[in-house]
Amino acid sequence: MPKKAEEKIPEIKTAKQLLEEEQKIKRLKTDTPIDELIGGGIREDEVIEIYGEYGVGKTQIVFTLAAKVASEPDGHVYFIDCENTFRPERIKQIAQNKGYNPTEVLTRIHVAQPKDTKEQIGALAAIPKEPKPKLLIVDGVTTLFRAEYIGREQLSPKQQALLRFLRRIKEYARETKTPAIITNQIYANPDGTPFIPLEYRELAVGGHTLYHAINNRIFIRKAKGTTRIARLVDSSEYPQQERPFKITEKGIEPAEGGETHE
Ligand code: GTP
Ligand code: MG
Repeated sequence: MPKKAEEKIPEIKTAKQLLEEEQKIKRLKTDTPIDELIGGGIREDEVIEIYGEYGVGKTQIVFTLAAKVASEPDGHVYFIDCENTFRPERIKQIAQNKGYNPTEVLTRIHVAQPKDTKEQIGALAAIPKEPKPKLLIVDGVTTLFRAEYIGREQLSPKQQALLRFLRRIKEYARETKTPAIITNQIYANPDGTPFIPLEYRELAVGGHTLYHAINNRIFIRKAKGTTRIARLVDSSEYPQQERPFKITEKGIEPAEGGETHE
């Protein structure tokens, strides 16, 4: 039967095939409390979002993960720094304190620092095939979009553009089996209602579902003293759990206590 132009025939697989494919999926261990929230490591085909307020430790988390992955011989990391807050000295410090070879770690982290959303989108196209990264990081995924699309009338084009970017990351992760971590700054709600990233809240109002663009989302908040809490939110795969951590000379490390509950 001839196909209409807007139709595409999807591939049909048996449930057995799907199960076998599922069992082949590898996980990237980060040796941080993040692993425990998401089944022991990041699935090689998935995108994780880490979100939280200013200064809560999102960049420190991705620095720690980047250093760990880059400590392995083929552990290339592609880091898209949308906020211009990449600090090679801090990566070096984390590597040294963890007993990794700092020069090797620094050499395996490839950093793009886009100046605008066009460069941010272009940074995805510039990911090298060789050496293929083991991990893709986008730090501050919404920052440049927020700076460029200002005002209510720009809300919808901003969401569309952001959604396209997120879809491309998801596609990249799935097709190349490269896990991705994106970070997203959110603002506190003065009225004490739950934290929802601005983009999602605006979209919820618009009746769209960017909320479901990313499956596994980890919310970071401050707890007592210097302790931070990482909480897995709305996952379809894993139980909702929390893990306390602290930011030290080794990057992020598990912490005692906090207000952990499962
Ligand atoms: P935004 O990008 O502004 O949204 O914040 P963020 O969530 O990325 O915060 P970031 O990861 O930059 O965390 C900032 C916090 O990390 C600071 O308040 C410090 O407590 C801690 N921090 C930053 N650098 C170091 C460092 O070199 N050593 C230690 N021990 N802590 C650090
Ligand atoms: Mg940051």
